Amino acid sequence: MIVYWNGQFLPKDQVNVSPDDRGFLFGDGVYEVVRIYEGRFYEMTAHEKRLIESANAIGLPLPEFKGMGGFARELLDRQSLPDGNGVLYYQISRGAAPRKHFFPDPPIPASHYAYIQALPVPDLETRPGAIAFTTEDRRWSNCHIKSIALLGSVLAAQEAKDKGGNEAILHREGVVTEGSHTNVFAVVDGVLRTHPANQWILNGINRRVVIEQAKEAGILYSEDAFTISDLKKATEIFLTGTTVEIWPVVSLDSIQVGHGQTGPVARELQKLFDRKKDRLT
Ligand code: PDD
Repeated sequence: MIVYWNGQFLPKDQVNVSPDDRGFLFGDGVYEVVRIYEGRFYEMTAHEKRLIESANAIGLPLPEFKGMGGFARELLDRQSLPDGNGVLYYQISRGAAPRKHFFPDPPIPASHYAYIQALPVPDLETRPGAIAFTTEDRRWSNCHIKSIALLGSVLAAQEAKDKGGNEAILHREGVVTEGSHTNVFAVVDGVLRTHPANQWILNGINRRVVIEQAKEAGILYSEDAFTISDLKKATEIFLTGTTVEIWPVVSLDSIQVGHGQTGPVARELQKLFDRKKDRLT
């Protein structure tokens, strides 16, 4: 497998990551995951913008950054993806320097790593619904930054998996925030609800696509936070994310959600979820 490492294209096993890399030692870096449909990148501009925002938020300015398009395209050309469907992973860490909490001074070159792997487009008719378990959101208070430090998410995801689930739905003192690696939507009293885009969630690219399409379709929706008790009475719950697209939740804390299958709002949004050319580059 050929990967991208600091400006070079190399076999993965030839990447020489320093044990002093701050990504390795501190989780000091940011990342993006971009969908590839039929050989084209989905919503690349939005991902690039969010990456720059994340980097600025952690004091890692990227003056030389020319976007992901150039190297990502070259990486894609070196890969053979079945039907051209996959994902690009790209991370930037604050570089390698002897371990000190302070930023290296003077600044050192950041470490850039990217790879592409195959990921089929989900078949909406055959994909089983998601099984979700609620758990307390124990992450930090800068969840809008797409940080590579993901221990809070990792522990929540594993807790859900240990219970037989696919995803954890997180809450802070009863207020539903998001999933461990997805955004959460619920239909409560006929209104599609999702947490507002602030410091407590990652403003997902697919979350934005879904909101845009819900508006266009005239679906009643609201970005007011909602609670676990709202969630328990939801007629529909679904998850959004780059890897999962729109994924209906059929079971929450071992109780069936709605009719235990994809509900009408999720189905309509799935139909509208477009991989349209104007979103692809
Ligand atoms: N995760 N919330 C969190 C905490 C996430 O990690 C993600 C994505 C999302 C959905 O964002 P988007 O629609 O932009 O993918 C929401 C990626 C895919 C990951 O960590 O693999």
